[in-house]
Amino acid sequence: MSAFIRKLRHRFYLLMLRAMTGILPAASHMAFVGQGSSRQLGQHIASLSPRKVLIVTDKPLRELGVADTAAAGLLEAGVDCAWFDGVLPDPTHEQVDAGLAVLKRENCDTLLAIGGGSVMDCAKLISACATSDESPRDWVGMGKVKHELLPIYAIPTTAGTGSEATSGAVVKDSQTLEKVVVSGPGMLPRAAALDASLMAGLPPHITAATGMDALTHAIEAYIGVWERGTRLEDGRIAVQLVFQHLVNAYEDGGDSEAREGMAMAAFYGGKAINQVNVGNVHAIAHQVGGRYGIPHGLANALILPHVLEYCREEAQPRLAELALVVGAGEPGEAEAQLAFKFIAAVRELRTQVGIPDRSDLIRREDHTALADAAIAESLGYPVPRLLDEASTLAILSQITE
Ligand SMILES: [Fe+2]
Repeated sequence: MSAFIRKLRHRFYLLMLRAMTGILPAASHMAFVGQGSSRQLGQHIASLSPRKVLIVTDKPLRELGVADTAAAGLLEAGVDCAWFDGVLPDPTHEQVDAGLAVLKRENCDTLLAIGGGSVMDCAKLISACATSDESPRDWVGMGKVKHELLPIYAIPTTAGTGSEATSGAVVKDSQTLEKVVVSGPGMLPRAAALDASLMAGLPPHITAATGMDALTHAIEAYIGVWERGTRLEDGRIAVQLVFQHLVNAYEDGGDSEAREGMAMAAFYGGKAINQVNVGNVHAIAHQVGGRYGIPHGLANALILPHVLEYCREEAQPRLAELALVVGAGEPGEAEAQLAFKFIAAVRELRTQVGIPDRSDLIRREDHTALADAAIAESLGYPVPRLLDEASTLAILSQITE
């Protein structure tokens, strides 16, 4: 497909999307915030008298006691609960089916996700499957889940994915290793608890990678070409919070102020992408994450500075604004200079939290297939500059050891 046709197709797609989503009600976000807020959320769910709640989590969180602490408000209120702790990183259709079987066997009518992005995404997909005969394979793309879902609540235990504030979920095909996004209004959690005390034990490398995911969400929403909702305000808040708190959270996991700042950053980053979607960083990250199992946040962190460099001219005003938000430049400096400085600040932050420049998991012989898939995915995002073959291959080379 020629570059002109791809641009035309992209513009038409965005117009269609704008027309479609313009008539949808705005997403509402309800969050309990602060130490002990998971207990408040549990009490809130109890007040709604659910028949039985399926708590979706993973085995490490149960073994560490984090899941039980997070669910304490619900359990103390005497709400009948069942557990599904079989979520693994990058949930697959098989994991969703396993959770769905527990939900049906236990006759649950509400879901509470306690965990990181994989857990929250899996809970959303279980809920979507519980009230439909179709499967996530039928809903690939934006807004394809149109039916009513069982209510979902979320307690994130990492600060990055922002899935607690989005109506999307990523699912991986265990055969093709392809990761796809499924979304619909009912997949937005009805309420979330941002309880940073649950994140105190996160290892530094996970704090770093998930934090860079939050930063990527905020930046991609901010530089996207689609004007919608409060994405600029939300993106600015998230970028500012990540620069203020990520290094501290990475260096001292017990720094409660930094943990809470990052929990808020992840939430606002999620809220921002929920209005306008992600961009080229995610389009490439989904491919290397799906094929090699590179954690999502790490994949984003590897790719982010290169994509910003690629679209620096197109996104220059926005990047310059972000430079001022994070104090990387002074008002009155030339816009081009500020844009440079912001990208440099992103690189510096990445280094400060111990993220390498390259990965030795990516294989050069896969570059063409990875680039093709990334270019196809990017067509669905409101990016300031569409990916092309040569540039995507160059970015892949720059992150390959
Ligand atoms: Fe992400």
